Amino acid sequence: MIKVTIDGVEIEVEPGTTILNAARKAGGAIVPPAMCYYSKLKGSGGKCRTCLVKVTAGSEKDPRPMPKLVASCSTGVQDGMVVQNITSPEVVEARKGVVEFLLLNHPLDCPICDQAGECHLQDLAFEHGAAKTRYEEERRKFDKIDIGDKIQLHMTRCILCYRCVYTADQITNERVHGVLKRGDASEISTYIENVIENDFSGNVIDVCPVGALTDKTFRFKSRVWFVKPMNAHRDCSKCCGKTAVWLHGEEIYRVTGRKDQYGEVEEFICNECRFDKKSKSDWVIEGPREVERWSVIRQNKYEIGTQVQAPKNIGYGNITV
Ligand code: SF4
Ligand code: SF4
Ligand code: FES
Repeated sequence: MIKVTIDGVEIEVEPGTTILNAARKAGGAIVPPAMCYYSKLKGSGGKCRTCLVKVTAGSEKDPRPMPKLVASCSTGVQDGMVVQNITSPEVVEARKGVVEFLLLNHPLDCPICDQAGECHLQDLAFEHGAAKTRYEEERRKFDKIDIGDKIQLHMTRCILCYRCVYTADQITNERVHGVLKRGDASEISTYIENVIENDFSGNVIDVCPVGALTDKTFRFKSRVWFVKPMNAHRDCSKCCGKTAVWLHGEEIYRVTGRKDQYGEVEEFICNECRFDKKSKSDWVIEGPREVERWSVIRQNKYEIGTQVQAPKNIGYGNITV
């Protein structure tokens, strides 16, 4: 085992662990945000730069600082490495710049976007962004694309994290989409319409960190904070059958994978569970899910008096909801 110190917290990890995963081992406010890395998808990470950190000592043997900020999702730890995340003003400033870049072409759609309330970009902008944009040029726009009858791609909101590309590549057996063109002309290929005859294609909705890929069976039905996520399971011949069903009264409005505190699904689920099983009698309901992430989605989920720990960098301290 080797030792790394992140924001003053000493952590022991296996050699080969990245800085991000070392921070996740300790948990809490020292964990950098990650918009493109996804632990269940091989090769993900290194695209969005939201996870930048400062390495103030490279290792015990060579304690020189690294000259530039590094992406924590793709930089391995060394024994004796010292890292700063939110304790470095340089990192906080750089992250603000990354948010500004991510939002350059992003529409101000939150009031009508299905992802609002569980959107990683919304949380990131809230925690690390600037209050005002300096961007005055025209934003790029795309028409919405139907991907089969259950999924819609709204490319205007895409941040090109590549997670859906890796998902289609690794979880389904017939990826026919990818990123076309370069620079600010890049887009998820229109061939994405063709991917969707696959049993696991719906997982692109769960991995998308923003509202670019949405579930058409749930679109505009409800804000997410008005529906109640419950753990549920069924015997399924295609997937684990363990899901979160989102209840509005007695009705199931949508079915998703169960996500952890980093917004990653615990296990991928099949399209039959996701799209075709919308009756309570299809499921064994286990009970309410704890919503881990600091987000507006927590609203209406807790009784008066519940203590919520806001991330330290927001500076609100404990808030009673
Ligand atoms: S993707 Fe996120 S940030 Fe963008 S409009 Fe939707 S909720 Fe807002
Ligand atoms: S559509 Fe979503 S998952 Fe795919 S690259 Fe864009 S933001 Fe990432
Ligand atoms: S999460 Fe590290 S670069 Fe995107």
